[in-house]
Amino acid sequence: NEKKLKKFYIGSIDQGTTSTRFIIFDGVGQPVAQHQIESTQMYPQSGWHEHDPKELIDSVNDCIEKATQSFLDQGHEISDIKAIGITNQRETTLVWDTNTGEPLHNAIAWPDTRTKGLVRELRAKGGADELLEICGLPLSTYPSSVKLVWLLRNVDAVRKAYDEGRLSFGTVDTWLLYHLNGGKEKNVHVTDATNASRTMFMNLHTVQYDEGLLEFFEVDRNKIRLPKIVPSSCPESFGSMTYGPLKGIRITGCLGDQSAALVGQQGFSPGSAKNTYGTGCFLLYNVGEKPVISNHGLLATVAYDFGRNRKPVYALEGSIAVAGSGVKFLMNNMGFITHSHNINDLAASVKDNGGCVFVTAFSGLFAPYWIDDAKGTIFGITQHTERGHIARATLEATCFQTKAILDAMERDSGHKLAELAVDGGMSNSNLCMQTQANIIGIPVDRPAMRETTCLGAAIAAGFAVDIWKEFDELKEINQKDRMIFEPNISKEESAKMFKRWGRAVEMCRGWLD
Ligand code: G3P
Repeated sequence: NEKKLKKFYIGSIDQGTTSTRFIIFDGVGQPVAQHQIESTQMYPQSGWHEHDPKELIDSVNDCIEKATQSFLDQGHEISDIKAIGITNQRETTLVWDTNTGEPLHNAIAWPDTRTKGLVRELRAKGGADELLEICGLPLSTYPSSVKLVWLLRNVDAVRKAYDEGRLSFGTVDTWLLYHLNGGKEKNVHVTDATNASRTMFMNLHTVQYDEGLLEFFEVDRNKIRLPKIVPSSCPESFGSMTYGPLKGIRITGCLGDQSAALVGQQGFSPGSAKNTYGTGCFLLYNVGEKPVISNHGLLATVAYDFGRNRKPVYALEGSIAVAGSGVKFLMNNMGFITHSHNINDLAASVKDNGGCVFVTAFSGLFAPYWIDDAKGTIFGITQHTERGHIARATLEATCFQTKAILDAMERDSGHKLAELAVDGGMSNSNLCMQTQANIIGIPVDRPAMRETTCLGAAIAAGFAVDIWKEFDELKEINQKDRMIFEPNISKEESAKMFKRWGRAVEMCRGWLD
């Protein structure tokens, strides 16, 4: 069976917050060719975060070209690639002119907090609890809905296009699919259920747009083109590549990056979970075929929807806005390191955090706290403080928030997780993963091949073209050489650290702009 499967290849596009990559996987889930490009982050004002929509497309095209060349150089043929999957940063909001296909503004990236005032205004209308019941998301600066409302209120060209009925809205998946399918000629305008569940326009229970939600945000469906919601794995709806070396190959998988990572980690059974330390950090916990609305600050979301005769599967999610972006901050803004992977050594240069706690609230604090007026704050600095202490405190910030999320998940689900599967850039740091295990008091399980997000999109694409038919067929994939980090400090010590973190979070509230 392994021999037979190896002959199939699947391409996987991952358009993430800070980089784009394209990986070609073989039929047993091993990457055979890949290319990655960092993308430009624009911070035009404090709290604002944008991407150039055209650069996103260019980066995908470049990655496809370079990885495909390497694939061909190894003696493979294009016809060996059976399908393409897409995965992407979620919530990031794009608007373009339906007639010309031209973007009408930069993409507003998911960590952007320009909508803080708007969110307060919307909260004051009342009804946030009802919204949560319908879409699973708390009203915050995070989802696409508030970003779209901001664009409609503040950008004349967007408002005009809306009033004239030629405004197209989409998240990054929709924007990529539109372009890969040739743009306005074919006008493919779709999204999958996982991405749609992050807009705050989708009813989690029906997996369709909800008139009540649209009305709350005063979005008139007759004036705006919303992408059609389809399953994450489909043979037809996502179209096919219309240019470049992979022209003609069908795109058959599409899912938000955190969902893709859950699929890539094979979190298919209720009760399984994964934590991905990317730009942000996102813990998804599979709750099965019925959504669970959180009472403790978590999000309810579509985990994946493999279509055909399968029902959508839901997850509880703990979203942390800052993980790898904290490391990038130490590198780009503070000049502490010259490459992200040096963070491990810098943090290991000291034996502990030296009394420092860094609440990395660059976008306020997301789950489970939702404190939108928190700002990044370092506590406990003395003459003793070195860069290593701050580096350590930066890694610990994500680990502490993960602990707070796991506690909330336990309260929502009534189950205690036995072990946490991890992936993403920051999980490369052994020190960070050991710290994580120590803080949550359960083992942390890291796969050898950590491109699980891309792998998840490839799995979704592969299912649609019948490379696999049952989840069981995947069970050997990426299981070898996993590394387990066992907690190695006492419960008391761990609790003491977490208590200090909790106090620091409380002290972050109410920062004046
Ligand atoms: O919700 C935002 C998330 O999808 C971004 O993922 O990997 O770019 O941090 P990442």
